[in-house]
Amino acid sequence: MAGVRAEDWDERYRAQRQWSSGPNALVAELLGGLLPGDAVDLAAGEGRHALWLAARGWRVTAVDFSDVGLARGRAQPDAGGVTWVTADVSAWDAAASSLDLVLVAYLHLDLPATLAVLDRAVSWLRPGGRLLVLGHDVDNVAHGVGGPQDPAILHSVERLAPVAARLDVDRFEQVRRGTPAGTALDTLLWGRRPAGSAGRPA
Ligand SMILES: C[S@@+](CC[C@H](N)C(=O)[O-])C[C@H]1O[C@@H](n2cnc3c(N)ncnc32)[C@H](O)[C@@H]1O
Repeated sequence: MAGVRAEDWDERYRAQRQWSSGPNALVAELLGGLLPGDAVDLAAGEGRHALWLAARGWRVTAVDFSDVGLARGRAQPDAGGVTWVTADVSAWDAAASSLDLVLVAYLHLDLPATLAVLDRAVSWLRPGGRLLVLGHDVDNVAHGVGGPQDPAILHSVERLAPVAARLDVDRFEQVRRGTPAGTALDTLLWGRRPAGSAGRPA
């Protein structure tokens, strides 16, 4: 899959600023009303969401394997409120039951890797803690605009169902996103770790 290596993403970020200008509108809508706590922004890129959350009082860790992407976020005037971690999300870990929010926006790995990361992300949540996954839907290739074109790495409700099964789900659906080039199709998974749920499944 193109773009899977940190070097490729470094190159892309070096070539031009990518997603620095404010949060995704749906992310802002869903997270804007929450009380701040401990959050991880997984595959944070240039840190647009991590910075936005930190400005709202969250203690945020931004994890990405692109040093160049993170450096752009770190260079922002208010970057001190974020802990910036260069790491591969497939290997990085947080303490179990230590977070109120895990945000995973537009991280596209193959399906086994995606499910493994998200499975671990659920285990990082405190009971009642929230997982927000937003990414390009597989239908976007034929019926949307932009985004990766390799269907194998894209999301769908069917593909993310094993993750949703571990949550109290608030929203789990294909969503439309307006862009200057037209309408893009994303998958949204928005849910809470059930109170009293066990950590990692055996
Ligand atoms: C499309 S960008 C999204 C960035 C950010 N979440 C946002 O919405 O602005 C995808 C990000 O995933 C990161 N990424 C991809 N695979 C990764 C991996 N295995 N470990 C860490 N980061 C990864 C890339 O470096 C890139 O910054």
